[in-house]
Amino acid sequence: MRKKIVAGNWKMNLSSDEALFLIEDCNRLSEGVKGVELMVFPPALYIQQLIAHNSPRIQIGAQNFYPAEKGAFTGEISFTQFKAIGLNYFLIGHSERRELFHEGHLFIKQKVDAVLNAGSKVMFCCGEPLAIREANEQMNYVRKQLNESLFHLSTEEIVNCSIAYEPVWAIGTGKTASTEQAEEMHAAIRTWLKEMYNAEIANNISILYGGSCNTSNAKELFACPNVDGGLIGGASLEAESFMKIAKSF
Ligand code: PGA
Repeated sequence: MRKKIVAGNWKMNLSSDEALFLIEDCNRLSEGVKGVELMVFPPALYIQQLIAHNSPRIQIGAQNFYPAEKGAFTGEISFTQFKAIGLNYFLIGHSERRELFHEGHLFIKQKVDAVLNAGSKVMFCCGEPLAIREANEQMNYVRKQLNESLFHLSTEEIVNCSIAYEPVWAIGTGKTASTEQAEEMHAAIRTWLKEMYNAEIANNISILYGGSCNTSNAKELFACPNVDGGLIGGASLEAESFMKIAKSF
């Protein structure tokens, strides 16, 4: 059976002290959370201190990395370097990386391959911008994102991925996809997984929703048959709301 996952994407927020307090509070408040994998993606700078702090119920992943082991890539951190300090989960294809940092399908594919070749796990983000939704082209758009950067994987590799559907028009806007919109896309992604791989794989891969998911809409969204949790931005910066979301199944 597929896992339920609630992950917090802290983006470029928080001071080092705030990050420590937040993970500590999340760990404490997560005591009642059962059957849900909890994860946060902090700014890279804080990861080592957060690991040292030891919050056993909260996994830590990397928001970004460079898909080469080492070398002359000024300012970058490699997946090998993250892995060496104990990280096992990597966020790839977030719309902010795609848009603001011009990460294209091919580069995203290289990142996916780098992580999986190193035996780690991928959380792959996809989702359409507003103009695409308005033109009712979202299915083709998301399918292309998956085709170009994920669906080249073998059956052995794809099982180490989870997928986060994050409509760009819902990220940080306070505007959430309706349960119908979310379920429709999640169900389509699962159908594509079945077509490309098989029914067992399609059933086992977690597909998370992201985009202004909060304490008031998480319950409804997580009740959709194909929504297996959430990738939470803004609402993950506060332990109470993040943990309330994690308890929304
Ligand atoms: P949001 O961000 O919850 O603040 O909309 C989600 C994300 O970007 O992963």
